[in-house]
Amino acid sequence: MMKYIVGNWKMYPVNYEDALMLAKKVKSVAVRARLAKVTPIICPPMPFLAGFAKMSSSIDIGAQNCFTEIEGAHTGETSPAQLASLGMSYVILGHSERRAAGETSSDVAAKIEVAIKQKLSVILCVGEKARDGQGAYFNEIASQLRASLEGFPTTKTSQLIIAYEPVWAIGKNAVRPATPEDFREVEMLLRRELSALFGKTKAFKVPVLYGGSVSKDNAQSFINIGADGLLIGRTSLDGDAFVSIVKSAMRESE
Ligand code: PGA
Repeated sequence: MMKYIVGNWKMYPVNYEDALMLAKKVKSVAVRARLAKVTPIICPPMPFLAGFAKMSSSIDIGAQNCFTEIEGAHTGETSPAQLASLGMSYVILGHSERRAAGETSSDVAAKIEVAIKQKLSVILCVGEKARDGQGAYFNEIASQLRASLEGFPTTKTSQLIIAYEPVWAIGKNAVRPATPEDFREVEMLLRRELSALFGKTKAFKVPVLYGGSVSKDNAQSFINIGADGLLIGRTSLDGDAFVSIVKSAMRESE
């Protein structure tokens, strides 16, 4: 199965020239990677997307968010149709930093519905805020997944990628990265939930990625345990480190 190495640049870098250099570095490995069944995807800040559009034939580019409508009087929002018209092929939806800013799973479901219609593939993020000894986080993740996929058409599962991103493992304040076993346990839960929604055959074709403090040192351990890819924040801003993660995923796919 294809592996996806996604760079979520968040609100970095502040300078367009730096962003362009970073994109070019990833682009240098993108064609070879695809031949080896690894898709690197970069998700730069929204203002840079139009400038990157001409690169979209050689590297997959995604947005970090989009709105629930195709057009209209919605100041400051971005239409999924506008992303598609620039040649973008992916959009991250439901990232925990957006959920923390007030986005609900039903908002996410509404965004997914329009994004799918614009032929974008959706990278849907789910993950618990904290872990308890009793396993309540399983319910938290399952209900987040179900609510975010409310109304998702069974015929469109090829446009769906799930990223398991435990909130406690994300960013500078991470408690620790999750372990490959933490990922594996939740992946099984996600597959079970996806099977209930879409049937087993389709459910097992949906890529499930890991995200949260992925580094050059731990990336391979998630791939080895069966992750279909990685969603990478801080480390994706280091072009050499990101490219080396892409290359190690390529070796794994050989
Ligand atoms: P991080 O971010 O790799 O910096 O922890 C991951 C994410 O938020 O997608």
